[in-house]
Amino acid sequence: MSLFDVKDKMDALVKELNQHSYNYYVLAMPTIADYEFDKKLEELGKLEQAHPEFADPNSPTLRVGGEITKTFTTVKHRWPMLSLGNTYNEQDLRDFDERVRKTIGDQFEYVCELKFDGLSISLTYEDAKLVRAVTRGDGSKGDDVTTNIKTINRIPHQLKSPDVPPLFELRGEILMHRAAFERLNKEREELGEVLYANPRNFAAGTVKMQDSKEVARRPLDCFLYSLNTDKNYFRTHWESLQGLSSWGFHVSEHSKLVDNIDQALDFIRYWDDQRFKLSYDIDGIVLKVNSYAQQQELGFTAKSPRWAISFKYKAQEVETILDRVTYQVGRTGAVTPVANLKPVQLAGTTVKRATLHNANEIERLDLHEGDSVFVEKGGEIIPKIISVNLDKRKAGAAKVIYPVACPECGTELIRKGAEVAFYCPNDEACPPQIVGKIQHFISRKAMNIDGLGDETIETFYQRGLVKHISDLYTLDEKADELKQIERFGERSIENMLKGIAESKKMPFEKVLFGLGIRYVGETVARKLAYGTKDIDTLIHASVEELTAIDEIGERIAESIKEYFGKNEHLKQVELLKARGLQFEVIESEIALQSDKLTGKTFVISGVFENYSREELKDLIESNGGKILSGISAKLNYLVAGENMGPSKLEKAKKLNVPLISEQDLLALLK
Ligand code: IVH
Repeated sequence: MSLFDVKDKMDALVKELNQHSYNYYVLAMPTIADYEFDKKLEELGKLEQAHPEFADPNSPTLRVGGEITKTFTTVKHRWPMLSLGNTYNEQDLRDFDERVRKTIGDQFEYVCELKFDGLSISLTYEDAKLVRAVTRGDGSKGDDVTTNIKTINRIPHQLKSPDVPPLFELRGEILMHRAAFERLNKEREELGEVLYANPRNFAAGTVKMQDSKEVARRPLDCFLYSLNTDKNYFRTHWESLQGLSSWGFHVSEHSKLVDNIDQALDFIRYWDDQRFKLSYDIDGIVLKVNSYAQQQELGFTAKSPRWAISFKYKAQEVETILDRVTYQVGRTGAVTPVANLKPVQLAGTTVKRATLHNANEIERLDLHEGDSVFVEKGGEIIPKIISVNLDKRKAGAAKVIYPVACPECGTELIRKGAEVAFYCPNDEACPPQIVGKIQHFISRKAMNIDGLGDETIETFYQRGLVKHISDLYTLDEKADELKQIERFGERSIENMLKGIAESKKMPFEKVLFGLGIRYVGETVARKLAYGTKDIDTLIHASVEELTAIDEIGERIAESIKEYFGKNEHLKQVELLKARGLQFEVIESEIALQSDKLTGKTFVISGVFENYSREELKDLIESNGGKILSGISAKLNYLVAGENMGPSKLEKAKKLNVPLISEQDLLALLK
């Protein structure tokens, strides 16, 4: 390589890495695997060592993190938030161990910890009170996200133990459990909102949200893993972890104290398989020298401590052939590209399809037909194409081009505002949109119509029997046509018609949710139903009137105005009204999701894995249960999470109040 080429190469790497850091830290939307990012960073580091004269003074090799977002106040960290050197194999770890032993000799221990795949946070406590929570930002200053962090149940606002330093900072990781991630993403899908690729992005997106009410709806968790004080309060890291736990902080139970690198490697191998059994994602293991005196002796490099290192697990990856790209048109009109792959085994499952997210992703990968592609199943639930094996690209292969027109109805696609997704705007005549909307209307959480399934709706649509939701309620006049459908016997028809007739009794909130208005999910529909009492008030409400309702923001209000601004939608409402569906709240029978908990009383205490306390409260109340504030002999159930106060527990036991878990509560509702 000529010197010019070296300089060009270095400049290009700096630019590329800065963009990736920005995508990762600021947008929380990484577009490269961690492993590849680190490889590129390493390549740049090597070039800088060989050619220091070309090194960029702001090179990403010198920086610890990303840029600061403008929307939150910037706060300087009292102790900088450093990062850790990454390793990917045993040899790197043995080299690290060798370096440590050169400085402090052979007498030391390692604390092995899980490396949580979330986002790091710094918590400041003064006089045993949480005063500030700050994101990592660029390592020396970050964003003040205290209001949002205060919604996390696991983080105490006030410590009970009097025996804590007057001022200290904690470092930890905010994360979302996989079950909560999947549930919330499914909700987003139903609402036609953009999906998060993995729990880490969901957690990162949540912590940076402006609306802390919405943050509280999304259960986050936090593991604490380090303590900073002016004077060393403890002698070793291990003791500080125990100390934190006794002060009421959530500390991982899986950390282990070991005597040497071989035992640390055993720990790493053990968790390589076991990590999939955890309820949250980890992406590696962190090793820390235990004694603070020895840590001090080892010191720091410009970026990271010399007494700690992280080992990163490789995401599982395979190579396969891209058969073709197909496009799915959803109920909201969003057109999502899907890669159809030659089936391969990956992380214990057969993978046939991978998500391509949107048009930008096809561009980024520069996909060509018949390409050989690398597929990864890392933190993502759905497999993802990481890159193309260019060596195997066939000469003359055609580039994959995202369509300009809807693959289902031919209408020209549009983009909405700043969204990356393309939409088919033909919501009144594009077949999958119509079928999708009717399928949503009959679904379990909406009208829950017995005897009618997704496939039947598709058949009805193809035969011209239903084009709108309201057509479901005229099916009873089309008995002859129904009888002609193969495998649709008299019994099935009767059942279905009965189910449809029954659905007329469904409460207003369910009908409203069933209409499939963008951003109007189950909870929002309930709030709107109770806030307006009837459909005419809702249709005529102004944006101001709508946003005055609890939990209704401007985005939702505008979506409602847009929906009822269309004549076709108003006509549907009139037709459904004429068929006898519920379009007002019947005050006498407060619309419950069920009355399974009617007459039962509950106290909720502690922290829970999948639901926030607010959500559990909603769940109980909307099924007829009552929440009490204290424990008494009359109480039916104590819903107990982790870290529950010992006095409550004792009282409940003394009074023989049954203790139930989050899962037990859900079981009561089945
Ligand atoms: S210790 C100076 N311990 O990994 C030591 N970090 O690359 C700083 N992380 O920014 C961190 N689990 O976000 C530490 N048990 C753990 C961790 C952990 C996850 C993250 C953290 C940090 C990054 C380091």
